[in-house]
Amino acid sequence: MSATPHEVGSGRLVRASTLGVLKSEHTRIVVVTAYDTPSARLLEEAGVDAILVGDSLGMTVLGFDSTLPVTMDDMVRHTAAVSRGARRALVIADMPFMSFQATRADALRNAGRLMAEGHAGAVKLEGGAAVARTVERIVSAGIPVMGHVGLTPQSVHQLGGYRVQGRSAEAAVALLDDCQALQSAGAFAIVLECIPAELARHASRELDIPTIGIGAGVGCDGEVQVFHDLLGLSDFTPRHARRYAEVGAAIRDGVAAYATDVRAGIFPGEEQSSRMDLEALEALEARRSAGRAAPDGE
Ligand code: KIV
Repeated sequence: MSATPHEVGSGRLVRASTLGVLKSEHTRIVVVTAYDTPSARLLEEAGVDAILVGDSLGMTVLGFDSTLPVTMDDMVRHTAAVSRGARRALVIADMPFMSFQATRADALRNAGRLMAEGHAGAVKLEGGAAVARTVERIVSAGIPVMGHVGLTPQSVHQLGGYRVQGRSAEAAVALLDDCQALQSAGAFAIVLECIPAELARHASRELDIPTIGIGAGVGCDGEVQVFHDLLGLSDFTPRHARRYAEVGAAIRDGVAAYATDVRAGIFPGEEQSSRMDLEALEALEARRSAGRAAPDGE
């Protein structure tokens, strides 16, 4: 029997440190992306532990073909919208392309904006050992940081496409080193995207902090999926996702029924309309007919 929304999730306020507690309790961590207030409310009602305001925003909502055009202003605006819908779940905001790569000062300022203006509870940034000092700097300012290794979409041009990473022994060792560097820098969790399941299991066993997989098998400490992929709101479902609902089809059918009713003149009906008092209506009609009887200038 499937759980009702109020039976899932722990009900407790989730902070970055809570994810570590869940790992130690062997409770798998549930994360879904969201980009607006109503979706965040629904995810909360469904009992997710954390909501990731991913820079996948660029593709799912803004219509770009990669995450690269997403700006800090986009991320701040959408993180604030998600935070308004989330009271219990941890809100994690992605740091977009070039918001943390140029200088550590930029990285800290931009992470600060996501916390202060977006009301996030943590930030996420892509990269391994190469960004460890940046992670350390942000964490030292009191901002929880989630790492992200494997397929890192902001480096799609360097990686040569959206493909599984860490297949060779050398690449796998480098990835495990990246994870250790992020953990030592103070990251509270790491997303493992599109890596072989065996490698993800190794990383999850070796690390004290939780791993959150996407396309990384079932051996991670938790899972993150993109809202639109789970719910049938995108044209294409990646191999690592499963469609749990057909919300896109429900929207299309609902709007088509509305259009039919508008065209047939049966919407809006009485219940969607308001009426004037009889007295006011008679006064209006009297004034209009007096106006017609004595036109201007006569
Ligand atoms: O941007 C995003 O949604 C992400 C997840 C896919 C991990 O980074």
